[in-house]
Amino acid sequence: MFSPGSKSRLTEKDLGRFAGDTLRDRIGRAVCRAGVLPRKEFFEAWEVARRARRLFRGGRVMDLAAGHGLLANVMLLLDDTSPCAVAVDTVLPPSAARLHDVLADAWPRLRDRVALVSAPLDDVALHESDVVVSSHACGALTDRILTHAATAGARVVVLPCCHDAATCDPGALGGWMDAALAIDVRRAARLERAGYRVWTQTIPAAITAKNRLLLGQLDHAVSRVRSQDSLESQDTDSGLRSQDSGLRTQDSGKITDVSRET
Ligand SMILES: C[S@@+](CC[C@H](N)C(=O)[O-])C[C@H]1O[C@@H](n2cnc3c(N)ncnc32)[C@H](O)[C@@H]1O
Repeated sequence: MFSPGSKSRLTEKDLGRFAGDTLRDRIGRAVCRAGVLPRKEFFEAWEVARRARRLFRGGRVMDLAAGHGLLANVMLLLDDTSPCAVAVDTVLPPSAARLHDVLADAWPRLRDRVALVSAPLDDVALHESDVVVSSHACGALTDRILTHAATAGARVVVLPCCHDAATCDPGALGGWMDAALAIDVRRAARLERAGYRVWTQTIPAAITAKNRLLLGQLDHAVSRVRSQDSLESQDTDSGLRSQDSGLRTQDSGKITDVSRET
């Protein structure tokens, strides 16, 4: 049986499983030709990207904790109005470049529009117009991505994994639900408190058990009301409200403006 959740690499032997004319099958065939990607990463990236693009069009795509960076490539293929994508990882696998080359052979418009950046994600500057995506950033790394995106006011899409009650925040919800769900519920609530409109979805469990997708977009109406509240209450609460959410913290002066690298 062909399980989409398998960690086996997709190779030319699997070409027949992607025989159709759909974009998904065409990307699948390119990935098989590259011969470097675990099967589940293909299906995860595809399912995350198509849901992200149903809500969020355009913008520079920032794929954080990107691994092979397939998600960055697929986001551009699904919406060519994005100018570029950046795949950021502290340790980019050497095969990330090979995967991008094979995709760019099939879709020449991808060439020179996907930057592979080796860096810790906190060092990369984000902009409000960005779409930040991240598939399976382990444990508290997902929280750092949410904070980083919300600090910039960027749209954000995360598929969390490796939930760890010691380093993530289940709050007091552990008596009602398992810790992993509690951590994700708290993440959604924190985004809302930061002035975001939030969507909660899942990708098929047959691909991964870590299948909860959290999407958010700054709701300018809510955000304006909150800033107004914050201004009006500055005398009484020292303006701390802007930090209440724990997400929209002050910009820490990022050093890398990767838009110049693309
Ligand atoms: C489980 S992998 C997910 C990779 C890819 N997104 C995927 O879906 O297959 C987590 C990735 O996070 C990267 N990573 C860990 N800490 C990081 C950091 N501080 N900044 C950027 N990437 C980081 C690791 O190198 C690894 O590639």
